[in-house]
Amino acid sequence: MNDLDALPADFTWGVATASYQVEGAVAEDGRSPSIWDTFSHTPGKVANGDNGDVACDHYHRVPEDIGLMSRLGVDAYRFSLAWPRIVPDGDGRVNEAGLDFYDRLVDGLLEAGITPFATLYHWDLPQASQDRGGWPVRETAEHFARYASVVVERLGDRVKDWATLNEPLCSSWIGHLEGAMAPGVRDLTAAVRTSYHLHLGHGLAVQAIRAASPGARVGIVNNLSPILPASDSDADRAAAVRADGHTNRWWLDPIHGRGYPQDMVEVYGVDLPVREGDLETIAAPLDWLGLNYYFRQFVRDDPRGPAPFAEMVDAPVADRPHTYMDWEVYADGLEELLLRLTDEYGARRVYVTENGSAYQDVVRPDGTVDDPERTRYLEDHLAAVARAAAKGAPVAGYFAWSLMDNFEWAYGYDKRFGLVHVDYATQVRTVKGSGYRYADIIRAARGRGERAA
Ligand code: IFM
Repeated sequence: MNDLDALPADFTWGVATASYQVEGAVAEDGRSPSIWDTFSHTPGKVANGDNGDVACDHYHRVPEDIGLMSRLGVDAYRFSLAWPRIVPDGDGRVNEAGLDFYDRLVDGLLEAGITPFATLYHWDLPQASQDRGGWPVRETAEHFARYASVVVERLGDRVKDWATLNEPLCSSWIGHLEGAMAPGVRDLTAAVRTSYHLHLGHGLAVQAIRAASPGARVGIVNNLSPILPASDSDADRAAAVRADGHTNRWWLDPIHGRGYPQDMVEVYGVDLPVREGDLETIAAPLDWLGLNYYFRQFVRDDPRGPAPFAEMVDAPVADRPHTYMDWEVYADGLEELLLRLTDEYGARRVYVTENGSAYQDVVRPDGTVDDPERTRYLEDHLAAVARAAAKGAPVAGYFAWSLMDNFEWAYGYDKRFGLVHVDYATQVRTVKGSGYRYADIIRAARGRGERAA
């Protein structure tokens, strides 16, 4: 039996990107600055002083990039829309030119037979919204829902698959607690309020999407990690429970109607600004869950550290492979999380909306890019997805992160996650070995599906 035989015949094979990471054209056609423009232009915030001003110039290269997707043979493209292109002040005036760009993108994808999976928010909040208080204030959630209506009214006749948020954990904990991502705040109260208003914005956006496009299929994308204690000590075990709350349960429980985990409410000690009806809004029924998976976490008790007082440490296991992000390669974690979503949360449809690895790729003199580690990573993680499917996980698709190398946030351009190499000086794209391997895997899977039909 082939490793991937357990995947459903209609499995969606995709690639993913995000607006600020690939588009560039930050000052064109009425786009206003986002918090990532501000952050990346603040000295010392991003490695090498990199920013997303040009990125992969995807804004001007959509036909070429759709051509790349066709070469890979993918079924679907997961992209995000830049709120500051569409509603530049965060709320109010709509910028038609911004919508036109996504119109062209969607039409191009459909012409190529590629299904668009659109994410409404992948971290690029309009700076104008930030200036009014950003996610720590409630009105940002309301403005997000209005922006969602505008987008879905324009694209909902052609886009059926919508995600509200990408990785609200990162916006909240990394952006507002650790300060390592935009807007670079370090404040537990702001971070907790951000998480709450992101959830509220998600719930309000679900309503807005369904109102604008009754046939829409709506989900949310969370990045989750298996959490293990670094030792058998009671303190480390308790730290692992807190870290699991911080990384996993805080993001899953409320959207499943379970409210916020009480143990974590106590750990944070921050009052949630709940109003009547909010928790029901946040728990709006979804059509699918998106899972982004990169690594597991070992933690030890860290009573003096920031909440949740659990410090991530190296895997206490000898000789584990690591990517260039220094993330441990642990494919079983993907299977574990898919089964957890199935068994603990009753998931009925899950997409692996991101999974991938950074390595130091170079174009060889013969013009090829050989990336055996990424190829292996891809094969092993797909095998993990198939094992989860064989055990009953309702996994409906896999989106490789990423279609192409791009702006890796605070790490800049040095960390390459693409199946396609980008030469940033020339914008030349080169399909890597892993990209060709992904194309083979997709072709073979389709062949099996057709033979089975
Ligand atoms: O590049 C990011 C993406 O924007 C969100 N998920 C993780 C990826 C790799 O760090």
